[in-house]
Amino acid sequence: MSKPILLILYGSQTGTAQDTAQRIARQAKRRWLQVQVLPLDNYNVANLISESLVVFVCATTGQGDPPDNMKNFWRFLFKKSLPTGSLSRLDCAILGLGDSSYPKFNFVAKKLHKRLLQLGASILLPVGLADDQHDLGADAVIDPWLTSFWEKLFALYPSVADVIPLREDELLPPTYTFHFLDDVKEETADRLRISTDQTVHSQSQPFPARLISNKRVTDLSHFQDVRHIEFDITGSSLEFDAGDVVMMRPCNAPEDIQQFCQLLRLDPEVRFTLKPSTSFPARLPQPCTVRHLVERYLDIAAVPRRSFFELLSTFATNELEREKLVEFSSVAGQAELHSYCNLPRRTTLEVLADFPHTTAELKVDYLLDLFPEIQPRSFSIASSLQAHPHRLQILVAVVRYKTKLYKPRRGLCSTWLASLDPAQGDVYVPLWVKKGSLKFPKEKDTPVIMVGPGTGVAPFRSALQERVAEGKTANVLFFGCRSESKDFYFRSEWEEMMNAGHLTLFTAFSRDQEDKVYVQHRVKESSGLLWDLIANKSACFYIAGNAKQMPASVSDALKEVFQQEGGMSAEEAEQMFAVLERTGRLQMETWS
Ligand code: 2AM
Repeated sequence: MSKPILLILYGSQTGTAQDTAQRIARQAKRRWLQVQVLPLDNYNVANLISESLVVFVCATTGQGDPPDNMKNFWRFLFKKSLPTGSLSRLDCAILGLGDSSYPKFNFVAKKLHKRLLQLGASILLPVGLADDQHDLGADAVIDPWLTSFWEKLFALYPSVADVIPLREDELLPPTYTFHFLDDVKEETADRLRISTDQTVHSQSQPFPARLISNKRVTDLSHFQDVRHIEFDITGSSLEFDAGDVVMMRPCNAPEDIQQFCQLLRLDPEVRFTLKPSTSFPARLPQPCTVRHLVERYLDIAAVPRRSFFELLSTFATNELEREKLVEFSSVAGQAELHSYCNLPRRTTLEVLADFPHTTAELKVDYLLDLFPEIQPRSFSIASSLQAHPHRLQILVAVVRYKTKLYKPRRGLCSTWLASLDPAQGDVYVPLWVKKGSLKFPKEKDTPVIMVGPGTGVAPFRSALQERVAEGKTANVLFFGCRSESKDFYFRSEWEEMMNAGHLTLFTAFSRDQEDKVYVQHRVKESSGLLWDLIANKSACFYIAGNAKQMPASVSDALKEVFQQEGGMSAEEAEQMFAVLERTGRLQMETWS
């Protein structure tokens, strides 16, 4: 049999599946295979019937959901009208990326496997179930899975097994080549290519929303900077309901851009075009300045992945640096890499600074192979269009923490957002919205109980504004923060709603007294009210916020309410909890 064309299709939310897909592609190219790598939604699924060899690399997100860039594929694949046996020509392999701390571990990969079998595809090897919780990371599963994938492929196509592959330290050609322009720099080169017409705004066509205000809502003496940020979305077709989320991509900080360009000896103002231009990344202007590329496209602030070290090591001529980089790229070096990079949250830029010789030798053509694209971030929308027409508001905690590294770690997106100042002239942030997982009841009389400590209150502010505007006044909110005087967000708004009889509010100020008081304590204390609302008035219950212990503790408190007020056994309370969850009357949105 001749050599196959290998198609690698991925569904990736945070970029790990994409990185893995590209890694498989590099291994294939080393074996001189023709290979194509695409996000699932950029692939015309109808063509699947004529493919012979496909690797699917799929992450599972949230509550067992497929990533955004495979949602259309997912809908198509589960159409009832697809005939059984329609994929009988196809040999495929499925690699799932998931996190076993979530209940629906690798749900997407498992479901895909079942469906492909149903459609008649041959599955070359058992589904790979990579786990972020594994001590050595997802690679602990991916590496042996890949070894066994290549063995299967060699058995199927002996001609692939026969070739002598390129060595790991031999460079593959870059995806693009850079062509620098030495003409006069045009002002327009860095202009955002964003449409403002009435099209549906999405990742590929975000809406440039004007920043109206960016206010710190925590006391200056408080440990954390939390921002209430408002955007003007007039002229867009953006629509959202309570529970929906807004998406945006952050930019790198000016000092990071400068340091990066210095390390790589790049002039930030110089312009370039890329070849082949057909697959030129749609978000980049053509021609583009180096500054624009580094500011908006290259993710240099994230913790680098192993594949970054693999590629970086091929440029190293300095013996010491080469040795270390090769070690970090090897299976045996993963524990060491973990403690160098992942544990202290060392950024790509810091790694580059640690390997200055190699960095100075990097070939510019490989920039887009070396550095992944900055990924979009999501924030729960904190306002309602009914209360604030043409406006979109968010509540953002500026992420900053210490590790063993001297410099504090900063969240890229929240730090960038906090730096934006509407007083410095018009600031536009490209954004789009996405359906969230929280859904609020349409029926006017159904009460809602919302538990949202900290920035977890954001989606509930949106819900309360929407519900009050619609005359839905049975609302209970549990809000928790450290101190009544320091981080009690939106206090005056809640008071107004309470005075109007539209809200019952319970607060837990954890550090205003000796012993910690949390929202779950208030939930238990309000057991009579909560039981009446849930058991007799069909209330819906919501939890939002930081995904450490809080959601589990609030869930336990609620089960105790069922036991105490409903006279239930622990088992019965569990069952009631499960039924509420299944019927959508108990919903959670948590983030880390
Ligand atoms: P703490 O920081 O004093 O521990 C918003 O962050 C609020 O949530 C703070 O008051 C914080 O309290 C509290 N919080 C921290 N851990 C929690 C948990 N496991 N359950 C509920 N609330 C928690």
